[in-house]
This record gives sequence, structure tokens and C-alpha cells, in this order.
Amino acid sequence: MATTRTFSIIKPDATRRNLTGAVTKMLEEAGLRVVASKRIQMTKEQAEGFYGVHKERPFFNDLVSFMTSGPVVVQVLEGEDAVKRNRDVMGATNPEQAAEGTIRKALAESIEANTVHGSDSEENAKIEIDFFFKPDEIVG
Ligand code: TYD
Repeated sequence: MATTRTFSIIKPDATRRNLTGAVTKMLEEAGLRVVASKRIQMTKEQAEGFYGVHKERPFFNDLVSFMTSGPVVVQVLEGEDAVKRNRDVMGATNPEQAAEGTIRKALAESIEANTVHGSDSEENAKIEIDFFFKPDEIVG
């Protein structure tokens, strides 16, 4: 299996509770390496653009409000089969359905305040990485 990259966000519920280290530790223990990381305040425009695929969903406005409610940490993660590896350690979208040992099971507050984002395909990983990072900000 090839070394690939994925895109991650440590969401506002985690920065608010000072859990950026705890989340990153679980990502690293899952075999992922942080090759880029920055703490930002997402703008409404960025959040709307990033989650554009969901704009017709009933939770869209609440999701944009939540994602702009505090700082987030955007990261590029590298590892073997990084997209799947990250999705596995994140756990199910709804923490009530997330498996033991996953980040969302251990740390998430609700289906909305669910601590982490992770790209769902290699194609989306490339798009999402380009949305937040310049090539020279990524050091593998
Ligand atoms: P989705 O892409 O379905 O999940 P995932 O983050 O696991 O890839 O949804 C994106 C985000 O939208 C999700 O992390 C939290 C939010 N969301 C809600 O607030 N309510 C919902 O019912 C769903 C499905 C998602």
C-alpha cells in the first residue's frame, strides 16, 4: 500500500476543550504523520465553500456556524493508505455509533460537534489540501 496524504480538521469543540494534542496523539498512534498544520479561524465564506457539497442539507447552516464558532487546526496527514487510515481512527460521524478506540467515540460531543474532519476519498483529499495549504507549507 502506497504512502498517501489526507486532509484533517481538528474542529472548534476540540480546540475549545484544549484537545488538539489528544487528537493529534491518536492520529499519530494510528500511523499518520502530521506534515502540515496551522491553527486558523475559518471565515463563513471558507466554511460555506469547504462544505459546499452539503449546502442543500438541513444541517448546513448550523454546521457553518459551528465550524466558525472558534479556532480550528487544519492538517495534512501522511501515511500508508492515509484516507482510510484516518477515517478508521476518526470513527462514525455520530459519536453514539462510533467504535471503541476511535477519536469520535473517545472525544466527540455530538454528531455536529464531532471533533474531527477527514477527507472521504483521495480525490477530495487533494482538493481539500489545496483549499487550505500552499505547496511550500507541506513538509513531508
Ligand atoms: P458527513 O460528510 O456526512 O460526515 P463525516 O464528517 O463523517 O465525513 O458530514 C459532514 C459533517 O456535517 C459532519 O462531520 C457533521 C455534520 N453533520 C451534522 O451536523 N448533522 C448530520 O446529520 C450529518 C450527517 C452531518
